[in-house]
Amino acid sequence: MDYGKIKEASNYIENKINVKPEMGLVLGSGLGVLAEELTDTTVIPYQEIPYFPESTVFGHKGQLVIGMLEGRQVLVMQGRFHYYEGYSMQQVTFPMRVMKELGIKSLLVTNAAGGINESFHPGDLMIISDHINNMGTSPLIGPNDEKLGARFPDMSESYDKEYIRYALECAKEIGIQVQTGVYVGNTGPAYETPAEIRMLRTLGGDAVGMSTVPEVIVANHAGMRVLGISCISNMAAGILDQPLTHDEVIETTNKVKQDFLNFVKRIVRSLPTT
Ligand code: 6GU
Repeated sequence: MDYGKIKEASNYIENKINVKPEMGLVLGSGLGVLAEELTDTTVIPYQEIPYFPESTVFGHKGQLVIGMLEGRQVLVMQGRFHYYEGYSMQQVTFPMRVMKELGIKSLLVTNAAGGINESFHPGDLMIISDHINNMGTSPLIGPNDEKLGARFPDMSESYDKEYIRYALECAKEIGIQVQTGVYVGNTGPAYETPAEIRMLRTLGGDAVGMSTVPEVIVANHAGMRVLGISCISNMAAGILDQPLTHDEVIETTNKVKQDFLNFVKRIVRSLPTT
């Protein structure tokens, strides 16, 4: 990853804002509405930012929204880049490099995911306790720039334990039920077969999706603290006797939107960012 490109992108953003965001938020499928809750915003379409790829999937907007949420300055990615769109792993994770360069040390990633754990229900929110990189590749492959992170970064606490405890407390405080579990990152774009879902369950997965893992690997490499939240938009293949559709994903995320918004806002209000 070319440090010059990271610097150019972060300079471009810095020149458009007169605040210093302390937290990065990545909003997954159907969850972009959170960006509408920000005030005093600066909106920067991805295509304007040097070296940023452009987002293509329906249900994902492609812009940064920087502004105030719950009394904090945050930088929101309204829409993300997916490996299945054809972007390289470096492109998918470029925004995390830029966030780090902007001085952001905390990352809150969200996604819509299929439930593998049979005790889950569509509409559940799951705090990610750990992940399984099942994408067959890594964004860190290639020469390592020691300025950006270690050659062999530790991944034993990729999802910050204090953040997990804190998120569980927030859920309790606002009276919502949350699950905790392991997120499996697959490339997609096809959903899994029932046999694949049985395999992933055996391997210890609780939810499966097509994002998040590359971003979290790079955030860890960059020394950022990460909190991850999945919205279980549907049960994965073979659990319920029905086909999976992207429409269902969007429909369910719309239904739990309010809980999701309240939860994330409560977290943002006082998440420790140092
Ligand atoms: Cl079932 N699988 C994957 N890979 N991603 C999803 C999903 C399932 N449901 C929502 N996103």
